[in-house]
Amino acid sequence: MDLLETELRAGTPPSFDSILAAESYDTPGRPDPPHALWRLMRDLPAPHEGHTADGVRIWSVTSFADVVRVLRDTGRFGSEYGTILDVRHGDPAGGHTINLTDPPHHRALRVPTSRAMTTHALRRMAGLIEANVDRMVAPLLEPGTHDAAEHLLALAMAATGPVLRVPEEMWPTIARSAMAGVAPGDPAYADGDVRRTLHFAHVELFGFLREVVAERRRRPGDDLVSLLLTVEVDGRRLSDDQILLNCYSFLMGANTTTPHVATQLLHAMAVREDLGKRVLAGDDRTAGVVEEALRWSSPTNHLMRRVTEPVRLHGTDLEPGDLLCAWVASANRDARVFTAPDEFDPGRHPNPHIAFGVGAHICVGALAARTVLRLALNRIRDRVAEVRPAGPVRHLRSNFINGITSLPLEVRT
Ligand code: HEM
Repeated sequence: MDLLETELRAGTPPSFDSILAAESYDTPGRPDPPHALWRLMRDLPAPHEGHTADGVRIWSVTSFADVVRVLRDTGRFGSEYGTILDVRHGDPAGGHTINLTDPPHHRALRVPTSRAMTTHALRRMAGLIEANVDRMVAPLLEPGTHDAAEHLLALAMAATGPVLRVPEEMWPTIARSAMAGVAPGDPAYADGDVRRTLHFAHVELFGFLREVVAERRRRPGDDLVSLLLTVEVDGRRLSDDQILLNCYSFLMGANTTTPHVATQLLHAMAVREDLGKRVLAGDDRTAGVVEEALRWSSPTNHLMRRVTEPVRLHGTDLEPGDLLCAWVASANRDARVFTAPDEFDPGRHPNPHIAFGVGAHICVGALAARTVLRLALNRIRDRVAEVRPAGPVRHLRSNFINGITSLPLEVRT
């Protein structure tokens, strides 16, 4: 029985501390994000007050309207302090990277980098991206039993690799280190304790990126790293450390999210036979299935913000310095916006999900992610007749990312 159930049975007002616990989402018997709790919270007055185990007060909003309102209001709800619960004591990269800068500085990083991720930019690499996805998905198209999570771990690099022009032999290491960086307590990525795991993940990623930046200074090209060398904020070029941190943000943003949409989709198809059949029959548009997989899986459970000026939210006064979590995964299941929100409906239309966030910080890699996910799904549809569960599924130990670390599947062609 989890904390909320205990409280409800005891008749005490529910506290919302369980959603803030870093390792709450791999509780045996409740392996998925706490949708039952979010459903309850959406019907109660917001914002909800909760405390982390180390005593930090966090306000939460869970409805679609509140989450959108908070994320759009960058003037009152800032990103510079940190945007995930794990850095509730402050993110050292705050103020230096695209995701951790508030307007107007944010624009100086956002405008040039988003140019490297446009339809036009990705179209130039279309053949390469497609070939990369084909190679990554190929093992899953063979009849037999496969761990889909293992095979798809580096899926994001199919597009992000060419965008940053990083060598392919590093892709698996980058993808693993990114996951270790975001979920250092998960046994799938742990290398000793959390501190040691984080240290090695950072040494690996930053050591490698330092070499890439040095090489790009010698031989610049039209990739994102070369572009960052030319970016100016307040009339000054970025320092090497700022460039490294921004490359890190892109690699983290890409690798901790994209593969989990694919694995969550395959998992849903395997456990719900009718859904698997329908998706593989190919009658629904690929783009629509991918959008529903994004909504339904919502890899980014929450986005944290810090209040920067006094603001009243539904009658509650929030003060500068207060921390607030906008639960994106909850917003994407709000019945006021989505009919039958807990159903995976491959034909859902309209589907105004916010899995990529909303407002100034809306995911700059959304097109890249959609591209690889659609390509991967098309390949699977072309070749696979049926996917069935073939063993226990392991979910990521994280309150931030809704991920899967192991997904044994039996594939029939
Ligand atoms: C399914 C895959 C993805 C999901 C669900 C996702 C989700 C998100 C979300 C929710 C945000 C908003 C963060 C905030 O408001 O604080 C975001 C921002 C960002 N994402 Fe993604 N992302 C995905 C793929 C990617 C990819 C492929 C890349 C890189 C190629 C990427 C790079 C970034 C960056 C750099 C930001 C910060 C943008 C800014 O602050 O202006 N993401 N992403």
